[in-house]
Amino acid sequence: MSTYPTITEQLDDPEPAQTEGRRKMDWARQHMPILESLREDYETDQPFAGQRIGMAMHVEAKTANLVELLADGGAEVAITGCNPLSTHDDVSAALDTHENITSYAKRGVDDEEYYEAIKAVIDIDPTITVDDGMDMIAAIHEDYPELIETIVGGCEETTTGVHRLRAMDADGELKYPVFAVNDTPMKTLFDNVHGTGESSLASIAMTTNLSWAGKNVVVGGYGYCGKGVAKKAAGQNANVIVTEVEPRRALEAHMEGYDVMPMAEAAEVGDVFITTTGNRDIITGEHFESMKDGVLLSNAGHFDIEIALDELDDMAVDSYEARDGVQAYEMPDGRRLNVLAEGRLVNLATPIALGHPVEVMDQSFGIQAVCVEELVENGESYDAGVHEVPDDLDKQVAEIKLAAEGVEFDSLTEAQREYMGSWEHGT
Ligand code: NAI
Repeated sequence: MSTYPTITEQLDDPEPAQTEGRRKMDWARQHMPILESLREDYETDQPFAGQRIGMAMHVEAKTANLVELLADGGAEVAITGCNPLSTHDDVSAALDTHENITSYAKRGVDDEEYYEAIKAVIDIDPTITVDDGMDMIAAIHEDYPELIETIVGGCEETTTGVHRLRAMDADGELKYPVFAVNDTPMKTLFDNVHGTGESSLASIAMTTNLSWAGKNVVVGGYGYCGKGVAKKAAGQNANVIVTEVEPRRALEAHMEGYDVMPMAEAAEVGDVFITTTGNRDIITGEHFESMKDGVLLSNAGHFDIEIALDELDDMAVDSYEARDGVQAYEMPDGRRLNVLAEGRLVNLATPIALGHPVEVMDQSFGIQAVCVEELVENGESYDAGVHEVPDDLDKQVAEIKLAAEGVEFDSLTEAQREYMGSWEHGT
């Protein structure tokens, strides 16, 4: 067993935190019909009995309901954060009271503590891993390869994690099967688009108390997350500017009516910058040089490398906390550039951030749960490598959600099914 302290051991007075964390979880749970529907089966059938699940996720109320669902379905679960700033300590403390759950997640850990906590989770000797960003899978492959033999498989939540896994797979280095939960329609089209859009804008507005209307909002990257951010910003009466490197996505943004231009030009006119590329060095020194006084710089991509903070720090003559979650950097000519959440995921890492709306995460975590179930039931039939989520599982979760929303929809007739499956009918 790991000697790294659990959240309960790290807090001076855990009890009030546990109560508050439970309150947050209860609220979220009321709005997670997919997890509730799965819970009915899992509590009875105990599909995860005997499984040890190691998780590295954003530990807040919605995630906590997934964690508890897996534990109530019979699993022993150990969890830590997947970002140093996204943990809600009270939720982590509430989770840690469950007899089948150990939580090591704590907000504000340094790099060393972050990786120590991941090691502590790995100490559970997991049979299944659930990651957001792939840091745990990487740690297992690099430092604990002997555990791989007993791992049935894993699930990966986000785009950056799936990119890393595919790179690892291409190099022949990924040694167990992992579901690309991120890539399935029930996740990407809702979580990445609407979730990131709504929660990034909400977090920026609440952190700064500033308006969107009439602002020039520069969205770095027009992928799933960028589309959501752009759409919601436009909906708040902002002027949206998109930067891209992929010609079809740049064209798509142009046809949506947004201004598309290189970051070097956008830097001169932008009021708020939100990077969503999953890439590095999107906003760098040359851009800081030409920005207006008072700009807001934020990132919604997985890692804190989209805004070159080291360069900004070197260029600044002064730096101070302008508000909670806002660090101002003063340039030699007096301009102030304001960085939110230390350049980490702005929708999860500002002090008041709540992450995606509950309903959206119900979908993403519904997919996580059915993928864990699939690994338990059929894990042996998947080879090492990255796998798409089986389409029938994705549809099953969509149907649960539609039923919960009271939405009815059509189904194909026999004649339609036959027509769609044939090539013989022409003009
Ligand atoms: P995506 O692959 O659909 O989109 C990324 C876009 O960025 C692509 O269109 C790509 O061409 C563009 N891009 C790459 N380099 C660029 C550059 N130098 N300049 C301009 N554009 C560039 O990925 P998706 O799903 O939108 O995810 C993006 C990031 O957001 C990932 O790191 C992902 O893990 C993260 N993410 C964050 C969430 C949050 O809660 N904040 C939720 C879901 C994903």
